[in-house]
Amino acid sequence: MNEEEIIDWLREEDEQKLETLWQRANETRIAHVGDQVHLRGLIEISNICARRCGYCGISADNRQIERYRMTEEEIMDCVQKAVGFGYGTVVMQAGEDYGITREWMAHIIRRIKAETSLAVTLSLGERPAEDLMAWREAGANRYLIRFETSNRILYDRIHPPLGDNPSDRFAILANLKKLGYEVGSGIMIGIPGQIYEDLARDILAFRKLDLDMIGVGPFIPHPETPLGQCLPDASVDEQVPNTEKMTYKVIALTRLVCPEANIPSTTALASLNKTDGRELGLMRGANIVMPNLTPPQYRVMYEIYPNKACINETSEACASCLSMRILNIGRAVGSGQGGRLKRNIPMSTMT
Ligand code: 5AD
Ligand code: FES
Repeated sequence: MNEEEIIDWLREEDEQKLETLWQRANETRIAHVGDQVHLRGLIEISNICARRCGYCGISADNRQIERYRMTEEEIMDCVQKAVGFGYGTVVMQAGEDYGITREWMAHIIRRIKAETSLAVTLSLGERPAEDLMAWREAGANRYLIRFETSNRILYDRIHPPLGDNPSDRFAILANLKKLGYEVGSGIMIGIPGQIYEDLARDILAFRKLDLDMIGVGPFIPHPETPLGQCLPDASVDEQVPNTEKMTYKVIALTRLVCPEANIPSTTALASLNKTDGRELGLMRGANIVMPNLTPPQYRVMYEIYPNKACINETSEACASCLSMRILNIGRAVGSGQGGRLKRNIPMSTMT
């Protein structure tokens, strides 16, 4: 699929035609990753952040929120819950918190790998290469860092540099791959100033980067951020809307372009449609969900955007909620770590 064809789909409004897109994405999902939906238990280990991303509710500039960093024992309690719920992976996510030291994190990773058979995924921001190497050596399997948008000008507008370090997430993604991580990235949909051409290029970048995991979700304005007052201007013809429907289009196209990738039906999508957003994501290309394992007292402090789904739930509630939702749409709860299945599929079949 080329840029023009992707743009045509992104602009498509005919419901019958869109139905064929959902079907193609679903068939591709079945053929390449099957019916299992893998569960990744998400532990939001710290909301402390050194960065000032213009959209993010836990940016260093937000003085309105209380900050926390979980202790080792609190994290290990969540890890034990993941084992109990039958999850195959824990994802440890945080703001870019340098109080999370290289050594401390490596120690936690070693403990998880020694005490459980879980895959360990990290989502800890733009850390120095030495940290990424130490954590890989400690046994971490996967790393997530979204490039958010492939439009460099737009990216720079919403990501002020930290000191004089220019932020280059594509370089970090390349390094992660070299270190032997399974690599995940993704974007936000409907960032103010993001146009259709940008979004089509984002999707093509997923294929070029040969990502193992691709997470996409709608941009949701957070009132305590610079972009929070900024609704995407729908009167500009080229502006991508930050809607539920646009999110399904991107999930479906991503599945067509990257048939083997692990693609979550994200919490941001579920936050726009709490009734069945997650299910529709899973029926239109996605094969992963990320139940939240964060202790309830910390969840409310990890509000990267408002009205986040599951903010008042317990880990137990999310575990049973998600397995019920998966079974209700006729899918199976995944077993094992659910890493990327690599098959040798000639590029020419990836239309
Ligand atoms: N709306 C939607 N997604 C957001 N993220 C951060 N802030 C927002 C927001 N306001 C996403 C970013 C980040 C991921 C962890 O959460 O894409 O990479
Ligand atoms: Fe958390 Fe449904 S997944 S309540």
